[in-house]
Amino acid sequence: MSAVVVVHGGVWAIPEDLAKASVDGVKAAARQGSSVLKGGGSALDAVEAAVRAMEDNPAFNAGHGSALNADGEVELDSIIMDGRTLASGAVASVKNIANTVSLARAVMEKTSHVILTGRGANLFAESIGMATVPADELVTENEWKEWDKQKNYVAGVMEDFNSQWAHDTVGAVAVDSDGNVACATSTGGIRNKMVGRVGDSPIIGSGAYADNLSGAVSCTGHGESILKVTLARLILSHVEQVNGNT
Ligand code: GLY
Repeated sequence: MSAVVVVHGGVWAIPEDLAKASVDGVKAAARQGSSVLKGGGSALDAVEAAVRAMEDNPAFNAGHGSALNADGEVELDSIIMDGRTLASGAVASVKNIANTVSLARAVMEKTSHVILTGRGANLFAESIGMATVPADELVTENEWKEWDKQKNYVAGVMEDFNSQWAHDTVGAVAVDSDGNVACATSTGGIRNKMVGRVGDSPIIGSGAYADNLSGAVSCTGHGESILKVTLARLILSHVEQVNGNT
């Protein structure tokens, strides 16, 4: 089977000034994931590598470049899922870890749990020696400016959807040469969200889902809308119906 990785850098209108950086960023992330697969890595390794590349790139709303909440703080959400076993790991409301997708993977592989939030996620990160960064390091000058302009969440969401400086959640899906699938999603969430708000991204079946029997999905968009329909799992249910493997 040919191994493939597909990445997305987030929906919403990407302004001209960010268009090149976004296109270059998704290409670089796809190359990163692809080189993992070519080197014999698993689908899980590939999606983690691709999402890490976007978390490290301030053109995207994940890791470096994340949106700010109502208090002007970064709160990051990530998930990763292994289609072989349906194992998943996620973190939510994390403030000072640059590559939360790797922390999500550690939750999946090293704990008995699926989701860790806030302080618990940080304590776990510390216990496995994962480096923290000063939270301000994850925020771009442009995000400070936009956050300062848009103090109203609802108006901000409307504006973001319709054209301004918005860039949403990133993600990747992959299939490896053994036919195993995986997905990963990572985000700073929506600008001016309430403190402690968790969107779709770290929620299994909403922000992402992977199952070797049907495929892999990573979502981007308005979290509260995605959560209502558990979008990632819904998409795979439709795939299963089309393929007749319900
Ligand atoms: N889809 C990202 C969020 O709503 O937080």
